[in-house]
Amino acid sequence: MKAYFFLCASLVAFFVTAQQLPTDYLTADFHKGRRDAFRAEMPANSVAVLFSNPVRNRANDVDYIYHQDPDFHYLTGYNEPHAVLLIFSSPQTTPDGNTYKELIFVQERNARAEQWNGKRLGVEGTIASLGFESAYNGSEFAALDINFKSFDKVLFYNFNNDYRDTRDGADLFDLVKSFKNKIGFPANYNASLQQVYTLIQSTTEKDTQKVVSQLKRYMSRDASLAEDPVVKDFLNATMQPKDQKIMDRAKTAVNLAINQYNFDLQGLGQIMSGLRETKLPEEMALLRKAIEISAVGQLEVMKAMHPGMSETEVQGVHEYVYKKYGAEYEGYPSIVGGGNNGCILHYIENNKPELGAELVLMDLGAEYHGYTADVTRTIPANGVFSPEQKAIYDIVYNAQEAGIAASVVGAPFSAPGAAASKVVADGLISLGLIKEASEARKYFPHGTSHYLGLDVHDKGTYGPFKANTVITVEPGIYIPEGSDCDPKWWGIAVRIEDDILISDQGPVLLSYMAPRSVEAIEAAMKLPSPLDAFSLPSLE
Ligand code: GLY
Ligand code: MN
Ligand code: MN
Repeated sequence: MKAYFFLCASLVAFFVTAQQLPTDYLTADFHKGRRDAFRAEMPANSVAVLFSNPVRNRANDVDYIYHQDPDFHYLTGYNEPHAVLLIFSSPQTTPDGNTYKELIFVQERNARAEQWNGKRLGVEGTIASLGFESAYNGSEFAALDINFKSFDKVLFYNFNNDYRDTRDGADLFDLVKSFKNKIGFPANYNASLQQVYTLIQSTTEKDTQKVVSQLKRYMSRDASLAEDPVVKDFLNATMQPKDQKIMDRAKTAVNLAINQYNFDLQGLGQIMSGLRETKLPEEMALLRKAIEISAVGQLEVMKAMHPGMSETEVQGVHEYVYKKYGAEYEGYPSIVGGGNNGCILHYIENNKPELGAELVLMDLGAEYHGYTADVTRTIPANGVFSPEQKAIYDIVYNAQEAGIAASVVGAPFSAPGAAASKVVADGLISLGLIKEASEARKYFPHGTSHYLGLDVHDKGTYGPFKANTVITVEPGIYIPEGSDCDPKWWGIAVRIEDDILISDQGPVLLSYMAPRSVEAIEAAMKLPSPLDAFSLPSLE
């Protein structure tokens, strides 16, 4: 007992002394404000239920580094696993007359577990530092007495059923199991069928054909939908548009099938997309920092690069710069592809031992306090672009300039892509690599833009651009070995990717610290690097 007391006392001392943390995290007020903003978008008489991300096992008793689900982080700031958040559209009253509008269940404090795997906030820490009026241990969730049937809508994401049941009686597996019991979630619930029913339910006579096309798209992804009698009846009815009785009967069948449940598996994503698309100033401070760190990483690599470097070492230099600035993670696995490897869009092996005179495509992003950058530079490992490399690079550069110029408030989401694609197609035609614009996708097979924020491919509505949105503009040209063109182009892969703030004053280049034009890159590669003097003993 004495020994146990001593151990507890030393753990307390350990945690008290381990409190020196960065001071620029999002604040409790930010997260609380986001929950209020979320609530304002909720349908009447609804509850939203969100779960933390699962822990993933790497091997034996080693797990992958834990990363919180970005929605959960955005709404709570709680970054531990095994937690569940409930947000109510309007205040709820307990039997003894107290009101509440949100509930959070978190990992229970446990000195022994914390000694091995790190500090837990626990109920008290969650209340003290995350702005919740009350919080509960996960083990109390099973006993939570809420009649979910009393809500018009229960919003949640479909379950991936990909988490383990550990010895802990309140792990994510148990929380989800309790929740499924509480809402009466059927074991055979077919989310895509319910989505199709919802779509049919919202059909008016004049948009029937649009809905039918959408339905056929869903059916091409999930053939079982075509076997459903209710869907079959509806499709049959749409083929006899003059017969209102058949259509009414089909819609009644849909209503009957869907009304058994008050689940809403789409609404949560729609609200979160609306909220996360535009960034608040607190978020912009972190996102700008992640982007500037990543841009400095690109510059430092340009200075340090030489033909004897390996892809792995290049990756290491970028990631060292990230850590030096205090960025916790990479926002996605780092991509460093020399020569033909650059043609693999998400190449992450990064194991070529020597880059020689090839182009090196480097697509990396630091994650700083949850926000991730996404910056790509393509540079010649020997410091000088060959005429062919330069010809391709300049087309991509001009395409990116056009894409950035099109990134303005009110423009459709597709505007940067349309502008960049035209420049790429014209450029490839002028070099004789293609004959007509429709062939350009052969060498430019991906989109030009995505939202950026807590996720590298962040959430958003894909509507016209709004101020305070951050997107990437990232055209590329990839000519794999063996392509149907003059072999002098083979193995050239160029992507230039920058992070752009869409603002009322026009597009703002956030990744400006990374040299971008041929001239600026060649000049940067002539600069001395602190790594020139860094050598390690040979291990041969
Ligand atoms: N780094 C992944 C992307 O550019 O979308
Ligand atoms: Mn990107
Ligand atoms: Mn990228």
